[in-house]
Amino acid sequence: MINIGVVGYGYWGPNLVRNFAETPGLNLAAISDLDAKKLEVVKKRFPAVKTTTRYEELLADPSIDAIAVATPVSTHFALGMAALKAGKHLWIEKPMTETSDQARQLVEEAEKRGLVLLVDHTFIYTGAVLRIGEIIKKGELGNVLYYDSTRINLGLFQRDVSVISDLAVHDFSILDYLLGEHPAAVSASGINHFPGTPENLAYITLFYDSKTIAHLNVSWLAPVKIRHIVIGGSKKMITYDDLEPSEKVKVYDKGISFTEDPAQIQEMRVGYRTGDMWAPKLIGTEALRVEGEHFADCIANRKTPMTDGRLGLRVVELIEAASHSMAAKGEVVYVRRDPSDRRQAKAPRRQFDKGTTEHTASKS
Ligand SMILES: NC(=O)c1ccc[n+]([C@@H]2O[C@H](COP(=O)([O-])OP(=O)(O)OC[C@H]3O[C@@H](n4cnc5c(N)ncnc54)[C@H](O)[C@@H]3O)[C@@H](O)[C@H]2O)c1
Repeated sequence: MINIGVVGYGYWGPNLVRNFAETPGLNLAAISDLDAKKLEVVKKRFPAVKTTTRYEELLADPSIDAIAVATPVSTHFALGMAALKAGKHLWIEKPMTETSDQARQLVEEAEKRGLVLLVDHTFIYTGAVLRIGEIIKKGELGNVLYYDSTRINLGLFQRDVSVISDLAVHDFSILDYLLGEHPAAVSASGINHFPGTPENLAYITLFYDSKTIAHLNVSWLAPVKIRHIVIGGSKKMITYDDLEPSEKVKVYDKGISFTEDPAQIQEMRVGYRTGDMWAPKLIGTEALRVEGEHFADCIANRKTPMTDGRLGLRVVELIEAASHSMAAKGEVVYVRRDPSDRRQAKAPRRQFDKGTTEHTASKS
């Protein structure tokens, strides 16, 4: 049984607490928040759980094995590093840190101490994303040609982070999990409609060596809530509507075949295929419960989490690259590659050098 303490009982913290309290393998041991009033609410619901406004008490408690950090992003690095230095396994909310340098330091500290570091990219543990991952890994989609996501609503305007850190971060992690490839370059345009606030709307394009292209439309300023993704493969295509109560994922046996046979050059070179549509059965368990069990298993059996610190770091690198591009009105920014990222070797390499027509064509 892993004793876990949660720091931060604001909007997201209560979801962690509720799930950890019921997750086999985890024992909810303590909760810390700077706001004593929030802790009173906790005491009513979980009388046996220790509460404190002083985070240091969790660190000093030798019975606590792991800490979950669910505080604002600006505090993640200091609180996360203190937890690791106190020898605690770490669950940290997305995005992992404000800068990639901070994320790298957390990864190195956890590795040096042999501690488990999980970044809460919750979508990866949903039945929908796990199932789409299986379908892609089995090769049913063929080559992934594109990923198109719309993630908009009349959202809560954040003071400290842009809509990229708040919403696009979900697609960055889903793409990382599904494609197993880090983008070569990113171009982003965005705007803050209200002076002195971070960008509330952004359009982001990601370019991959393997010729996949991804486009993300994220906004806190839309009249309706949409969470819709289309993934186009060379064999089949998928739609994923996260707001659908059932049949969130649909697989379409639709596509085109393209001939380059010189004998048919005068003919129609594109053939269209329209077959069946099916909706695969998805695991209904709440993602945070699946993730909590996975965290406990990783600690007990010294496994690497599916959403480990390195994935968290890659996501923060993408946020930085996209924010950089957004500041330069959509200029293409080349994404830093981690030389120790063994997954890069799997993807066929294509050169995206600055100024190549291939690159310009993708941007236009
Ligand atoms: N995984 C997801 O899908 C998901 C969804 C929403 C939010 N989040 C993440 O969760 C984190 C928290 O977001 P939120 O919306 O709950 O924020 P919030 O502002 O609602 O809550 C943060 C809480 O942390 C407390 N806090 C701050 N510093 C503290 C400290 N040093 N010690 C103890 N408590 C402290 C605050 O008092 C507050 O109650 C963010 O990183 C956010 O990105 C993740």
